[in-house]
Amino acid sequence: MNNKLPLLEELLKYHKEKKLILSMPGNKCGIGFLKDDIGREFLNKMGYLDITEVGNLDNFHHAEGVIKEAQDLLADLYKADRGYFLVNGSSSGNLASIFSAFNEGDEVLVERNCHKSIYNALILRKLKVVYIESDFDLENGIILPCNEIDIEKALGKAENPKGIILTSPNYYGVSCNLDDILKKLKSKGLKIVVDAAHGAHYGFNQKLPKSIVELADYTVTSAHKTLPALTQGAYLLVNDPSSNVEFFISAFNTTSPSYLIMSSLDYARHYLENYAEQDYSKLIDLAQSYKKKINSLNKVKVLSQNDLNSSKKSYELDESRYIMTLPSGYSGNKLLDYLLENKIQSEMSFSRGVVLILSPFNTVDDFEKLYRAIMLLDMKKLREEEKNLEYIKLTRKKILEPFEVHNAKYREVNLFEAIGEISKDFIVPYPPGIPIVLPGEEITQEVIDAIIWYKSKFISILGVHRNSIKIVLVE
Ligand SMILES: Cc1ncc(COP(=O)(O)O)c(C=O)c1O
Repeated sequence: MNNKLPLLEELLKYHKEKKLILSMPGNKCGIGFLKDDIGREFLNKMGYLDITEVGNLDNFHHAEGVIKEAQDLLADLYKADRGYFLVNGSSSGNLASIFSAFNEGDEVLVERNCHKSIYNALILRKLKVVYIESDFDLENGIILPCNEIDIEKALGKAENPKGIILTSPNYYGVSCNLDDILKKLKSKGLKIVVDAAHGAHYGFNQKLPKSIVELADYTVTSAHKTLPALTQGAYLLVNDPSSNVEFFISAFNTTSPSYLIMSSLDYARHYLENYAEQDYSKLIDLAQSYKKKINSLNKVKVLSQNDLNSSKKSYELDESRYIMTLPSGYSGNKLLDYLLENKIQSEMSFSRGVVLILSPFNTVDDFEKLYRAIMLLDMKKLREEEKNLEYIKLTRKKILEPFEVHNAKYREVNLFEAIGEISKDFIVPYPPGIPIVLPGEEITQEVIDAIIWYKSKFISILGVHRNSIKIVLVE
């Protein structure tokens, strides 16, 4: 007999370590449900509430009763025409939105630094793509979202675009005010799909950036990332009257939807409606005062809006997130490890720092713990051999669409033989982690020069194995 339960045992071990969770989930491992009586009852009875579609519990795939009622409350709160719960995350929402908004063969503008689920949708829906390039903030090592000028440039390259797919905010909690350009695109009849996975809390307090829901035809947002909802729980908010989105939601979500996830989505909506205004005010005040304290230690720097790309002022920052950066020559990955040794779980690291997702459920003690960890930090331990953080902006040339490359035959060739060929894979140097070539783009001399330069700096490059690259065999 084997008494091992490797996954469950590890999960229980993690729980017992009582880490400070400055990552997902937004419910902070249950703490978010302790806000009021109904939340506490939900948390205490969670195991007993794992029920399926019985009695008056309605049907996720044909909602007419309590699920419909809960979704209508959601739509009202976000001021959208329709609101839907998703049990397969924003990933399923991105797929459903893109399938609903566009038809096979449509041309769309797509932010280049988008989530995998969007690339999946571009391939599966067979869309023609015009990429929107955005800037990289070299000083802080972070990817910026696209702004109005970036969108105008992409628009200029498109022939007959049917819509735009944006990511706002991005993983760092950075966004741009896109009101004017989105209104303009809408007036031209373009469909607007926004992956707002990281912005479910936007617009519920004046100190947070405003919500994009009213401007978009489809907004997808991961309630589970920032709100008291269970992992996989997300919202889809729709303003497109012609959409057949319910079919696609059904197609991309399980036929055994979890009532725990759906009920937690109902709870997260209730939380936003009743507590968010006050709670986020308190959180942001606390976050700002500790930002000052932490920065005064002169070790790390928690970024403020003014620190972002000084030449362009239009970027907005989520003040309920910390982008904690290090000076050049220090490693963000090592900072993540150091915080973990101090029982602080970061959301992610990047070359120059870490991202921490704060929440109204964090207490003064939590901030104090973070402050003390930074105070005791021995910067020498985070030193890393200097890897010049360079972002080489290249001229891109798309030859094939992502869906055309997906099933194409390929061959691995030496770097120099690849010049003039089409890339089968993403080619991504880490750092900075931004693709220099996407599947379907031409591998130019400039690309090869960039790869050689990155290699000379010992920067690892995804999509380059030893000295070879996968090229598409055009039939
Ligand atoms: C920008 C962005 N969009 C979409 C997703 C997918 O969200 P989910 O995990 O809810 O499927 C993620 C996940 O990290 C993301 O970062």
